[in-house]
Amino acid sequence: AERELQGHFEDKIARDQRVEPRDWMPSGYRETLVRQIAQHAHSEIIGMQPEGNWLTRAPSLRRKAILLAKVQDEAGHGLYLYSAAETLGVDRSELTGKLVSGRQKYSSIFNYPTLTFADIGVIGWLVDGAAIVNQVPLCRASYGPYARAMIRICKEESFHQRQGYELLMTMMSGTAKQRAMVQDATDRWWWPSLMMFGPPDGDSPNTRQSMEWGIKRHTNDELRQKFVDMTVPQAEALGVSLPDSGLVWNSERGHYDFSEPDWAEFRRVLKGGGPCNTQRVERRRSAHEDGAWVREAAAAHAAKQAARGEA
Ligand code: 3HC
Repeated sequence: AERELQGHFEDKIARDQRVEPRDWMPSGYRETLVRQIAQHAHSEIIGMQPEGNWLTRAPSLRRKAILLAKVQDEAGHGLYLYSAAETLGVDRSELTGKLVSGRQKYSSIFNYPTLTFADIGVIGWLVDGAAIVNQVPLCRASYGPYARAMIRICKEESFHQRQGYELLMTMMSGTAKQRAMVQDATDRWWWPSLMMFGPPDGDSPNTRQSMEWGIKRHTNDELRQKFVDMTVPQAEALGVSLPDSGLVWNSERGHYDFSEPDWAEFRRVLKGGGPCNTQRVERRRSAHEDGAWVREAAAAHAAKQAARGEA
């Protein structure tokens, strides 16, 4: 029977059909989905910190309202993704426990500091831009709940990217000091944004299997290249330079050539050695502990309701 079920699963994947929570699936498929979806959810929640840092210091009410909406969206993205992970039989409090104890990852990009308000624009432009390139193919992931969560998230991400780019266009038509702030933020976020796509394909232990299972539709390097190709013209339109002297159009390839990111830095940040790793995880841990009383009260209330047969 197990072989028959395996056969059904493989047929479904071969025919590009969606796998749903009640379908039989190989344990490896379930495990890699929990791994990727949980870490994606963690990234959304941790990602609220660098931007949240500027909520009280936004330069106008309009900018504050936009940033507030974006940070709230990230929280929502995290909740959709924890719900998608829970269809695989894990529980979000268990996943949060793994995050705060360093047993699960979150995107390296959020371990860098947001030093000026221009960082808020560059995060929208580059970080959300990279997230869109990475997430649009995930809308076609073979696992139904993940793909469906991605469809809604991608719609909201395009607002995130547009608001960031519009903020930068405004600053670039401002004073020389504002233009310098945008260039400084671009210089600091360019390479970490390229690292969001993961290690080079040759160093990516999960890519081959994830592609065979229809979880990943493109390799890390393919998506990184796509992001570079679409971002160079945006930088030109903005009037900023990108910090890579090796960035040049290659007409044979029909793509931009660019230098190798610093993979030693990438590995260091993944091991917890980035500028903000400790504070990000500490902040998440203390927020979780501070919120324990709310979870307990809600659970007690639900138990009373159930006892009264009202639930
Ligand atoms: N940061 C942290 N860890 C990373 C990473 C990064 N930028 N890139 C790769 N890794 C980790 C992988 O998780 C894996 O470790 P693990 O086996 O312990 O999970 C290891 O490095 C090797 O990488 P692989 O390429 O083999 O791993 P994957 O096949 O999982 O590919 C990925 C990595 C491309 C990030 C893929 O997991 C993915 O597409 N995840 C979903 C997208 C996502 O997580 N995006 C986060 C961006 S931030 C965001 O979305 C918020 C937005 O609103 C701004």
